[in-house]
Amino acid sequence: MVLLELNSVSSGYGKMVVLENINMYADNGEIVSLLGPNGAGKTTLLNTIFGLADVFEGDIKFNGINIRGKSPDKIANAGIGYSPQQQNIFPNFTVEENLMLGAYLRRDKDLRKDIEEIFKIFPEIERRRHNLAKTLSGGERQMLAVARALMLRPKLLLCDEPTAGLAPKAASLLAGKIQEIKERGTTVIMVEQNAKIALKISDRAYVLAGGRIVAHDSSANLLMKKDLEQLYFK
Ligand SMILES: Nc1ncnc2c1ncn2[C@@H]1O[C@H](COP(=O)(O)OP(=O)(O)O)[C@@H](O)[C@H]1O
Ligand SMILES: [Mg+2]
Repeated sequence: MVLLELNSVSSGYGKMVVLENINMYADNGEIVSLLGPNGAGKTTLLNTIFGLADVFEGDIKFNGINIRGKSPDKIANAGIGYSPQQQNIFPNFTVEENLMLGAYLRRDKDLRKDIEEIFKIFPEIERRRHNLAKTLSGGERQMLAVARALMLRPKLLLCDEPTAGLAPKAASLLAGKIQEIKERGTTVIMVEQNAKIALKISDRAYVLAGGRIVAHDSSANLLMKKDLEQLYFK
C-alpha cells in the first residue's frame, strides 16, 4: 500500500527551482534510499516532503491526504518524522531532554514510556541519558537525532545522511538501527552518501542528479548496474 506519493513535483526555495518533475513513492514497510552527488537535491527532496521548501508544481500525498503546502508542524502531526542533516540535536541539553524536545507537539502522558521504548532500539544512548548531547560520540549523536525524530511516533521517518562522517563500524551499527526501525513498523526514506550501505538495507532507491531523478530501481538491481556507479558511488 502506498504511504507517500509525489506526482510531477517541482520545488525549491523562493524563486529558485531545485527539483523538477519528481515522481516517487514509498510503500508501507519499505526503506527507500535517495542517492546522488552533492548538490543533487536530496536534502531538498526531504525538505519538500516535510514542508520546508516551496512547492511550485505537482502534488504530495501522505496516507491518502494532500500535504502539499502544509506547515512542518501539521506534517509532523500527520505522521512524518524528520531527522535532518544538520543541527539535528541540542548540544547543551541532555540526551533525555533532547528526546522530550522531539515530542514538543505531543500533549499526552505516554512520553516516558515512549522514551524507554526508543531506548530499546538505542541502548548506546540510554547509558548516556543524563549526559549533555555535546559529550556524545559522532555515532551516538546521530542515534540521538534519529531517536528524537521517532518521538512523535511517525508512520514515515525521513532520515538525512545518518551515517555521515562516521567510521565504518559506527556507520553499519547505525544502518542496523534503521533496519530495526523498519521492522518495528516505520517506513523510512533515507538519504545516504554511502551507497553500498544504503543499497544493502533499502528495498528501492532513487538516484538524483541535477534536481531530477535519473534512476529508480530495486536496490538489488541497482547494486548490479555498474554503469550507474559514477552517479552514486562517490
Ligand atoms: N535553503 C536553501 N536556500 C536556497 N538554496 C538552497 C537551500 N538549500 C539548498 N539549496 C540549493 O539547492 C541545491 C540542492 O541542494 P541540496 O538539496 O542540499 O543537495 P544534496 O542534499 O543532494 O547535497 C543546491 O544547489 C543548493 O545550493
Ligand atoms: Mg544533503
